[in-house]
Amino acid sequence: MINPENLSLDKKNIDTILVLDFGSQYTQLIARRIRELNIFSVILPWDISVEKIVNLKPKGVILSGGPESVTETNTPRIPEAILEMEIPLLGICYGMQTLAEQFGGQVSTSKNKEFGHAEVLIEIPSLLFDGFSSGSSIDVWMSHGDHVSSLPDEFQLIAATNSAPIAAMQHSTKPIYALQFHPEVTHTKQGNTILENFATKVCKCSANWKIENLIQQRIIDIKEKVGDKKVLLGLSGGVDSSVTAMLLDQAIGKNLICVFVDNGLLRKNEADEVENLFKEKMNLNLIVVDAKKIFYRHLKGISDPEQKRKVIGRTFIDIFDNEAAKLKDEINFLAQGTIYPDVIESSGSESNEARVIKSHHNVGGLPNDMKMELVEPLRDLFKDEVRKMGSELGLSLDMLNRHPFPGPGLGVRILGEINHDKVTILQNADAIFIEELIKANLYNHVSQAFCAYLPIKSVGVVGDERRYADVIAIRAVETVDFMTATWAKLPYNFLAQVSNRIVNEIEGVSRVVYDISSKPPATIEWE
Ligand code: XMP
Repeated sequence: MINPENLSLDKKNIDTILVLDFGSQYTQLIARRIRELNIFSVILPWDISVEKIVNLKPKGVILSGGPESVTETNTPRIPEAILEMEIPLLGICYGMQTLAEQFGGQVSTSKNKEFGHAEVLIEIPSLLFDGFSSGSSIDVWMSHGDHVSSLPDEFQLIAATNSAPIAAMQHSTKPIYALQFHPEVTHTKQGNTILENFATKVCKCSANWKIENLIQQRIIDIKEKVGDKKVLLGLSGGVDSSVTAMLLDQAIGKNLICVFVDNGLLRKNEADEVENLFKEKMNLNLIVVDAKKIFYRHLKGISDPEQKRKVIGRTFIDIFDNEAAKLKDEINFLAQGTIYPDVIESSGSESNEARVIKSHHNVGGLPNDMKMELVEPLRDLFKDEVRKMGSELGLSLDMLNRHPFPGPGLGVRILGEINHDKVTILQNADAIFIEELIKANLYNHVSQAFCAYLPIKSVGVVGDERRYADVIAIRAVETVDFMTATWAKLPYNFLAQVSNRIVNEIEGVSRVVYDISSKPPATIEWE
């Protein structure tokens, strides 16, 4: 979880809303919604130290939902220090329940969990519901087992539903509000207005969090931190590391040294494209390591997906470490394209706050004697904010809107053992599929699309000859968060065109199949 001292932005003049995390699956969404209003928002675990909260100087606190029950002892509570700060509070779901309990109200466990759509009736005028008239109703999303069964003294009911008679409450004299439903999810139709009312009308935050201003500030921050020392960055060609490189380039120019490892498992021409963009066009100090042979050698004989992932990860780290060691005397800083969701996911609460260098596709396990400090200029940004920053910095739309590509690359798209020939077949098939998607204006309508190489042969006919040849699967999914996904209903004539091109243009492929599995039960990748 993020430590306010590590936020690289000069936050002195920026109004901040603190989201206190009680473990809800929607906590990140709350912070994103607030940031979409151009108001800065930070997530901290509920058991963060008082000192850190005070340092942050929040103008308001949103208490998230969470999986626990306040009816049980030893479950999370709002720190007294927050209640004593006398700043605006908004409790959501669990946040409401603990607020009610800590102010002397009662919380009960419902017989049935309420999950899904509900209609909430606004009972009395409230600043939180500014713009909605009393007696009107709003469509909301509920997801709770417990509910507030008796209002604390000094609190008033502001909205109710049939199933949750106390659906929203407010303190009669202090700026404290609470909602049983979730304003942060899109199913709550006017959720954004409610959050905006809280942030701008109750907390009186100014909308001064803007990506354009942020870029200049980040460049100044990097210059201050790094001075005339050297920084090493592992470039993957993805959006996060590319934007990190562009920021650092503007801040320190040739003192940035980028290393790009070609693991032989990239998309067709990807290594050349990265080299062309960053070395030729942008004139970055880029070292390209051609490690294809080493990766193929290490992967020989391995067909288990998890083992392949491990070997690919380990080989990457070895090669990166090797390059770093060659430069060791020169380098003082290691830059990473870590973004906010990585930070939030790598540690859950104050008690295990940790700055983990993910070995995933970032860098891990650098030699012990390399005392490098981290530079992570995107550490408090969400993906869409990184994209906006990239766009401001001039990163092409192609790069910004590119579908995600897994760290282990084609390694998890070639089922079974990997070798150079299979990689070439898959790269060519994938390039045809993506080219056709772009041509048919479908690329931006699907969230992720790719080909997979299946570990089977099938009989085909070419001319008069029977051919025993490879099978390629094509996969396209639609998803918002990649946690669940549905298979894309691509037009039949489009699929026919892709299939024709693949079997005609790639020798050795006799059959193309379309994957019609959603997630769950399938995953997006085949391995
Ligand atoms: P699954 O296959 O788990 O994929 O449904 C969800 C998303 O994660 C990507 N993915 C990975 N990304 N390393 C990565 O960096 C991995 O090992 C990995 N496995 C899956 C996948 O491409 C999809 O976007």
